[in-house]
Amino acid sequence: MSTQLVAPSILAADFSKLGRDIEMINSSNADYIHCDIMDGVFVPNISFGIPVVEKVAEVAKKPLDVHLMITNPDHFIVPFRKAGASILTVHYETCPHLHRTVSSIKNEGMKASVCLNPHTPVHLLDDIISDLDMVLIMSVNPGFGGQTFIKNTYQKIRELKELIMVKNPKCLIEVDGGVNFETGRNLYEAGADVLVSGSFIFKTDDPIATINKFKTL
Ligand code: DX5
Ligand code: ZN
Repeated sequence: MSTQLVAPSILAADFSKLGRDIEMINSSNADYIHCDIMDGVFVPNISFGIPVVEKVAEVAKKPLDVHLMITNPDHFIVPFRKAGASILTVHYETCPHLHRTVSSIKNEGMKASVCLNPHTPVHLLDDIISDLDMVLIMSVNPGFGGQTFIKNTYQKIRELKELIMVKNPKCLIEVDGGVNFETGRNLYEAGADVLVSGSFIFKTDDPIATINKFKTL
């Protein structure tokens, strides 16, 4: 049985009322607060950066799960640790020296996570999986909230689960993009541990109830 953790993505929050939306997550059963950092280079969009994460961390009562969709993530490991990140995710596609990057994240006292774009195969993690605390599988092309879930993700989760069971059973599987109750249920069933959800949570009338329901799908 999977862990069933949920990480609301504040990319879908109302940025003019960010404090209010963080308090909402604080009072829910959410496990992490997912922060999407986009640089307009690796992905075709810009979101928010270090000063915003710093302010989120001041109010947050849940660990910050920071997803770096940026080129040269190595330059920003220390700044994001100082800003308050607990989990730091880098993209496989942005890290030519991934082992070094993962070691630096862990040396800074954060959990290290690697993200795969939809076209990046799971087997590329064979020689790094034993060093990871989490793998993030993108179920949409990164850059925007509110996109349609890519169904091939289920197969990737099953494949990753097999690899994890052999090499590093403590490693968590997180999935990001197009997650709702239906895809979420299937993802937990396929072996996912952590579901990121942005627009689905923030568009419902009662986001706290929606977050809590993810825990019992
Ligand atoms: C997409 C981001 C996601 C995004 C998910 O690039 O990494 O975290 O917030 O949004 P939804 O849940 O709306 O697909
Ligand atoms: Zn994300």
